[in-house]
Amino acid sequence: MAKMVVLLVLFTFFLSFINKEVGCKRIYREDHMELKRQPKLLHKFAKKTIRTKYGDTYDCIRINEQHFNYRSLKNLTYDFPVRSTSNPKGIRDQKSSSLFNPSNFWLNGKGCPDGMVPIKRYTEDDLKRAKLATEIHNSKYKPLTVDRPGTHYAIVRTKNTNIVYHGGSAIISIYNPKVEGTQYSSARIKVINGPESIEVGWTVNPTLYNDTQTRLYTFTKTSSSSCFDTLCNSLIPVRTDIPLGMPLESISTPEQQFDLQLMLFWDSSNGNWFLKFGQDETVIGFWPKNVFTALGDGANYVEWGGEVFSPPDVPSPPMGSDRNLQQDIKYDAYCKKIKTINETDYVVNAVDTEKLSDIKPYYDVFDEGITGSADFQHLILFGGVGGYTGD
Ligand SMILES: *[C@@H]1O[C@H](CO)[C@@H](O)[C@H](O)[C@H]1NC(C)=O
Ligand SMILES: *[C@@H]1O[C@H](CO)[C@@H](O)[C@H](O)[C@H]1NC(C)=O
Ligand SMILES: *[C@@H]1O[C@H](CO)[C@@H](O)[C@H](O)[C@H]1NC(C)=O
Repeated sequence: MAKMVVLLVLFTFFLSFINKEVGCKRIYREDHMELKRQPKLLHKFAKKTIRTKYGDTYDCIRINEQHFNYRSLKNLTYDFPVRSTSNPKGIRDQKSSSLFNPSNFWLNGKGCPDGMVPIKRYTEDDLKRAKLATEIHNSKYKPLTVDRPGTHYAIVRTKNTNIVYHGGSAIISIYNPKVEGTQYSSARIKVINGPESIEVGWTVNPTLYNDTQTRLYTFTKTSSSSCFDTLCNSLIPVRTDIPLGMPLESISTPEQQFDLQLMLFWDSSNGNWFLKFGQDETVIGFWPKNVFTALGDGANYVEWGGEVFSPPDVPSPPMGSDRNLQQDIKYDAYCKKIKTINETDYVVNAVDTEKLSDIKPYYDVFDEGITGSADFQHLILFGGVGGYTGD
């Protein structure tokens, strides 16, 4: 009993602490503290613990308790199951390889019970690595200069226009480029508005995940915080079975390509962003409008393609399929059916795009444009063997 009271008092103290209106510096520090505290607090809400066949442990948290401790989300109310209020329109041929089968992923064959979501149980070590991975990912880069190792890109993006994009989508082929140390190599869709962005795709990032598997990831950058997956107060997962950060086992080869269908959709009726996964566009998570300032009003750029990072003096890692581009979907990593969602919520082929690759020929991107093929539509190919050391 006494123990309960102490816990309650501590908890109340904590709540009152995070409720205070604070200046920028405090917020920054608080976000780090939130990052540290979150797993422990959430752990207290765990109703059940489940494991994946990869050995990761997840706590099942009731879907509406997961953000209980987040300052910015305190006033939020929403109904489950979570759906967007408006929906993307337009005909989509929703065929792609089916990737996720909970019975191959969870030891219990299904994930969390109804009404709960799996939240990874982080160790202190995991959190330290996540903090480093976030700092690395935030490191500034100078596009189109060759005098600086660090972050490199081979992407296609929408040009600077006055269009407000309600999102973007693509089907991205999956590879497992070799990285080491603090390097990472990713393929992703990114929506941007000012300093804020959301990216989603696959990544090989040993700093973050402590292994070299290809994993589904998100990176959220708001004006006050940034983080991967569900590590901070921005993305709310809503599926009982599909966790962010999960390994993607099917890796493409010249004989067979496996790919990942992803959509970021901005719901203009309430300002929330939705992450839709797979051919049936299942919502696996969402970002409430109030975690953003700029991005809460839609995006003004959409990007598709590859991104790598290497520390100085270490030859930069491969991107995509680890080949010099062949202009062949069998050999190059691709994003096919690259689409934007327009101001009336139609999912349309991406037009008015430009290429950006900062250290050709180490990494390159081909924009094949809107091909005649219904399977590919607007197709881009990207990648490279890397090996750049900054000279
Ligand atoms: C929550 O609601 C209260 C009362 O309406 C308001 O004063 C406060 O600013 C809100 N907090 C957030 C984070 O929106
Ligand atoms: C990271 O990986 C190494 C090697 O597989 C392992 O010994 C270590 O326990 C892992 N650390 C964590 C936090 O999982
Ligand atoms: C969005 O796309 C649809 C279908 O192509 C088109 O009819 C509509 O005019 C577009 N809306 C805007 C705002 O461009």
